[in-house]
Amino acid sequence: MSTTEPPTAPPAPAVHTTGLTRMFGSLSALTDLNLTVNRGDLFGFIGSNGAGKTTTLRILSTFLAPTAGTAQIMGHDVVKEADAVRHVIGYMPDFFGVYKDMEVTEYLDFFGACYKIPTKKREQTVSDVLELVGLSEKKGALIGALSRGMQQRLGLARVLIHDPALLLLDEPASGLDPRARIELMAILQELRRMGKTIIISSHILRELETLCNRVAIIEKGRMIYSGPVQGVRDQMSPSRIVWVRVAGDSAPAAELLRALPEITEVKPVDHELKITLAGADTDQSVIAEVLVHGGVRLLELREDEIGLEEVFLRVTRGETQ
Ligand SMILES: Nc1ncnc2c1ncn2[C@@H]1O[C@H](COP(=O)(O)OP(=O)(O)OP(=O)(O)O)[C@@H](O)[C@H]1O
Ligand SMILES: [Mg+2]
Repeated sequence: MSTTEPPTAPPAPAVHTTGLTRMFGSLSALTDLNLTVNRGDLFGFIGSNGAGKTTTLRILSTFLAPTAGTAQIMGHDVVKEADAVRHVIGYMPDFFGVYKDMEVTEYLDFFGACYKIPTKKREQTVSDVLELVGLSEKKGALIGALSRGMQQRLGLARVLIHDPALLLLDEPASGLDPRARIELMAILQELRRMGKTIIISSHILRELETLCNRVAIIEKGRMIYSGPVQGVRDQMSPSRIVWVRVAGDSAPAAELLRALPEITEVKPVDHELKITLAGADTDQSVIAEVLVHGGVRLLELREDEIGLEEVFLRVTRGETQ
């Protein structure tokens, strides 16, 4: 008899949606969203106000039913297996009420009881999550006396109490000062190291640029990018702008440059030439090379640095693609 195990299927991704759609009356808040988040990802979900971030997160956390399409969390369908989904997720809404007259430990103990964590174990669990979010010193404090940043961290502690594998965090950094943001990001990185999968939404790409390994960008309910952070610029802004200043008349230089296949446009602007390079990988040294060979005296060559945030703004304003 063979002792070889039958091949097991790879574990389901943390999140997998197909054709996910949500209508509010005649408004399509979410249209045909196909999203995959792998286990272990720290995934940034980015979009402007009204893009559909909260709608998506509410569907994934079983609070809102999709109008069409499906969503699975760790292989469980959010509609048909809502209970199983609730056990593996921790959802932190964008706005959540806190009981201001309750003490920090009381509050967490209450949620621990909701998740049926035995009384004996609860004290340790509450202590552990407070340690994780850096609130150990505030155990006996009244929630109403905590700062906004501390309340956000308490909200995070609350969703960690049943040790969920997937965290869905809706704009957890909004309203926090820069230091509190950095502290929150450090906590999220620690949680990722502990093996959690995390989805964090924001309308600020730059905020998630260094934190996340993958991002999805949505606009008006539609996905416009999903993949590694590094791919955003290449996919959304394939052309680059280089400025050239030459001695004397720029017309001969423009003529030489127009003959290059890597260059899509050469435009005189003031005393400079504005050159559009095709492709994110084109080496700008071709410009200097052709000018020097053509006997043109090159005085200056510089490239416009387009930040990721600028790329995002252009895309969401509909200025590219
Ligand atoms: N309960 C609702 N009833 C009607 N329309 C809604 C409802 N919830 C959301 N919408 C609409 O759906 C669209 C997406 O809203 P959603 O809250 O998902 O956006 P968001 O990306 O979270 O925005 P924000 O950055 O402002 O939080 C918006 O046009 C919004 O007005
Ligand atoms: Mg929202």
